[in-house]
Amino acid sequence: MSKKPYYITTPIYYPSASPHIGTCYTTVACDSIARYRRMQGYDVMFLTGTDEHGLKIQQKADEKGVTPKEYVDEIVANFKKLWSFMNISYDHYIRTTDDYHIKTVQTIFRRLYDKGYIYKGEYTGKYCVPCESFWTSTQLDENGCCPDCHRPVTDAKEEAYFFKLSPFADRLEKLLTETDYLQPKSRATELVNNFIKPGLEDLCVSRTTFKWGIPVDFDEGHVVYVWVDALSNYISALGYENDRPDLMGKFWPADVHMVAKDIMRFHAIIWPAMLMALELPLPKHLAVHGWITFNGQKMSKSLGNVIDPIVLGNRYGADAIRYHILREMPLGADSSFSNEIMINRINSDLANDLGNLVSRTVAMVIKYFEGTLPEEREAEAIDSELISMAEALRGTVDGLMDETKLSAALTEIFKVISRANKYIDETSPWVLAKDEGKRARLASVLYNLLESIRISASLLCPFMPTDMPKIFEQIGAAEADVSYENAGKFGVLPANVTVHKGDVLYPRIDAEKEIEELNAFVAKEKSAGETAENADIEPVAGIIGIEDFGKVDMRVATVKACEKIPKAKKLLKLTLDDGLGGRQVVSGIAKWYEPEALVGKKVIVVANLSPAKLCGVESQGMILAADAGDEVKIIFPDESIPNGARLS
Ligand code: MSP
Repeated sequence: MSKKPYYITTPIYYPSASPHIGTCYTTVACDSIARYRRMQGYDVMFLTGTDEHGLKIQQKADEKGVTPKEYVDEIVANFKKLWSFMNISYDHYIRTTDDYHIKTVQTIFRRLYDKGYIYKGEYTGKYCVPCESFWTSTQLDENGCCPDCHRPVTDAKEEAYFFKLSPFADRLEKLLTETDYLQPKSRATELVNNFIKPGLEDLCVSRTTFKWGIPVDFDEGHVVYVWVDALSNYISALGYENDRPDLMGKFWPADVHMVAKDIMRFHAIIWPAMLMALELPLPKHLAVHGWITFNGQKMSKSLGNVIDPIVLGNRYGADAIRYHILREMPLGADSSFSNEIMINRINSDLANDLGNLVSRTVAMVIKYFEGTLPEEREAEAIDSELISMAEALRGTVDGLMDETKLSAALTEIFKVISRANKYIDETSPWVLAKDEGKRARLASVLYNLLESIRISASLLCPFMPTDMPKIFEQIGAAEADVSYENAGKFGVLPANVTVHKGDVLYPRIDAEKEIEELNAFVAKEKSAGETAENADIEPVAGIIGIEDFGKVDMRVATVKACEKIPKAKKLLKLTLDDGLGGRQVVSGIAKWYEPEALVGKKVIVVANLSPAKLCGVESQGMILAADAGDEVKIIFPDESIPNGARLS
């Protein structure tokens, strides 16, 4: 039987936006849904990408003295790195600078023009450059600024094309109020009252004052308005009117477009109107979430509160970050991010509840049965509550996932985890273990715990795809045991299951120390950004010949151990495997690196530097690092280079 298709999309990100925890939210949420649907047996198409045209990008590229394409290429590489770090399983990454997308947008524009929905006129009004949005005077906020970002707008007057929205007003109002297109529905009133009821004004859909956009192919000098360009990505990625394989029949209409509230208007009015004009079916759902703020404040680089998800992920694991943001933000509401809340949540839910449940259970099976349960069983009435909760879990989570209520789905899973911890206290396996006659009862208790873990971890897997397989390994669950099918049943693990001791999944975090370090980090990032912008680049040193360079013998090495040097605050001692028998070096990097974070990393060592003593500790060479503003950054070579390889 062929699998049912399922199509889910994130917004495509502006390359100018620095990816932070807030930007990550939609992508992590969509990834979890995509994985959940795959687990349920759907044939999933999960799309993300970047929205690379517009005046803002052109201005940024000009400032940097590079072409817009060069500018976006570099940022797109960073986005992809972040998505790979966060384990995002997108099926296609679209860039609006891709040729096939350009072709689709030009065809759509021409078709809407041919059908009479787009016409040529003159635009006079206001334009918000950061939001790439046109506004009429009546739509501005009380200070005459952009109603979305509240920054000043500029006057705009130019020959332009317009898209007639009014013919779609009735259908749009019905879509928002009478169908379940918009999730949560409560947002419909705001849209209908602010935009549809006052009369939908025609939308300006071309610009002539800048070049970095998709040219209107029948009128030189006009480029397509970025939102018409961007929204079309959802179908150009499916091969609509271009040379990519035609997936429209299979995946369109989309099952879910997920967006944050600030761009809801474009997806709830303009996009459906474009589709109506093109006579294409409308997406099934638009799931709108709130904003993640930092301690209640908007996240922004200039405010110095941007949290780099990679920094957090390196400290606590990407899955812990995924879990935290998904659990914290219920659909529809805003949520305030703070380091304290994140650390407390990781400690309470992941270290105390989930991590402890797994390690206690596995440890007891090892201690009392040498790792393998005997087959004898003895059930008691007290087991039934845990078993029925675990058995019902999949159905509850399915329902919540259908409504994109990810936070609620996680809450339900953790209820079973908490119930299992309570069951340990109720059944006191350590007391049963003292009684030879209670071996079968003890085996039942431990089996019930393993089964509750299996079901919970199977359903958590789409949310935390890196860590759950480690749990499966520890509880002795084979791949077939952790299928979606089996997540709805109790009693799947073999009666004589064998467990395996593993590493602690979520070590408890020292909250006070971490918060201090994270706050210092954010402050340092802010000042480093400022310094880097103003810093003069050091002039090139005196010219040397190749023979001089050849005297410096630099080798790739792996850090085997690293520790602080007592009484030398700035120094770290690194033990290196340099492929030459090993050596130790002392480096003045303690202010910027935690010793544990360097273990396992590849570095470059100057191997023929004469040894020196620093604070009484011998250093046999130095590792390469660069001055970056007021901090020092180690140069990390590619992981695949073998130790001992010489730089040339
Ligand atoms: N390029 C447009 C989208 C075009 S889709 C056809 C855009 N890009 S964006 O990079 O500015 O934002 C992408 C998404 O990230 C938006 O949904 C935006 O609201 C969301 N977020 C950006 N910061 C956020 C938070 N702090 N919290 C939650 N979501 C946030 O808009």
